[in-house]
Amino acid sequence: MPAMAPQPRLRPATAADAGAMSAIYNHYVRTSTCTFQEQEEGLAERERWLAAHTGGHVALVAEEEDGTIAGWGSLSPFHARSAFRFTVEDSVYLRPDRCGRGLGGVILGELVRCARAGGFRQVVASICAEQEASVALHRRHGFVPAAHFRAVGFKFARWLDVVYLQLDLQAGP
Ligand SMILES: CC(C)(COP(=O)(O)OP(=O)(O)OC[C@H]1O[C@@H](n2cnc3c(N)ncnc32)[C@H](O)[C@@H]1OP(=O)(O)O)[C@@H](O)C(=O)NCCC(=O)NCCS
Repeated sequence: MPAMAPQPRLRPATAADAGAMSAIYNHYVRTSTCTFQEQEEGLAERERWLAAHTGGHVALVAEEEDGTIAGWGSLSPFHARSAFRFTVEDSVYLRPDRCGRGLGGVILGELVRCARAGGFRQVVASICAEQEASVALHRRHGFVPAAHFRAVGFKFARWLDVVYLQLDLQAGP
């Protein structure tokens, strides 16, 4: 049997990770409905995004032994208005050749741990309804359906639904 590859190490993202994070994200901008962004982002945009991810709004990368960034995850403000400050939205993006091995779950588990530690109340995932892997990943971590918006997105010449799933960090077992 081939040896199992060691799990990548999770660590806070730094400005030096902007290029690797953008390369992963832009792949999905070009090819997938998992993001509704249609134009690739530039490096400066990701650098600004990283600079804004401070305190409880974490950005994490999964780094392999040779320095390859296998994926990243983040907690971002759910909404700019201040009364939403106890709610965050999570994101997880893996290199396409690292999908399907459970790494997304490792990153999401750490994001949920960070959200608890950061004193947040709710974690929301906004997911294109056809992204079954992402929905399954969040369900496995206890997220429950909260909303289903029909035909709110239009990408690759198709109308797309969005589902919101949410994890109430104060809910009992
Ligand atoms: C979504 C993503 C983060 C999941 O991470 P992953 O490590 O590949 O996920 P896992 O291998 O742990 O699989 C997650 C679940 O999805 C299921 N799954 C995987 N691929 C699937 C597919 N094509 N269709 C349906 N379900 C699928 C798995 O069976 C698993 O479910 P289970 O635990 O109930 O068995 C990762 O695939 C990814 O980065 N995808 C592209 C970007 C993206 O969609 N990000 C989410 C934005 S909200």
